[in-house]
Amino acid sequence: MPIDLTVNGQPQTVDVPPDKPLLWVLREDLGLTGTKFGCGIAQCGSCTVHLNGSPTRACVLPVSAAAGQEVTTVEGVSGDAAMAVRNAWRKLDVVQCGYCQSGQMMSATSLLASNPSPSDEEINRAMRGNVCRCATYVRIRDAIHEAAKELEA
Ligand code: FES
Ligand code: FES
Repeated sequence: MPIDLTVNGQPQTVDVPPDKPLLWVLREDLGLTGTKFGCGIAQCGSCTVHLNGSPTRACVLPVSAAAGQEVTTVEGVSGDAAMAVRNAWRKLDVVQCGYCQSGQMMSATSLLASNPSPSDEEINRAMRGNVCRCATYVRIRDAIHEAAKELEA
């Protein structure tokens, strides 16, 4: 049965089983491969997208649960917080292998959109569900502070 949803501001209709995880609909059916598969059990954060603006693990969300909702992926995320995150990630050279980073950036963007000047503690809390096997955690936290500075300016 076709399912309608909005992805990165564009209306989409997908004809897939309703329990197909949103992650695989994005990657296989819509060609949006920026969102990554890590664990598949909501433990690593590499599949993080925004559902109506909130960070959501796309690997465990059946696409039927996104019907009629707004999904944003790393390819389409926009606004001041997203721009500040992109600039800070580049400036501080955060990325190592890069695999986890789209999820990290989606979580960081969501944090800064709701709290433009987070403390270390608030950053740690917001980012704790995003695992980085390359251990870029210190650079990620520094980059979130850097992005917060850009948002303040
Ligand atoms: S792939 Fe979704 S949380 Fe790990
Ligand atoms: S940069 Fe390699 S897993 Fe995070």
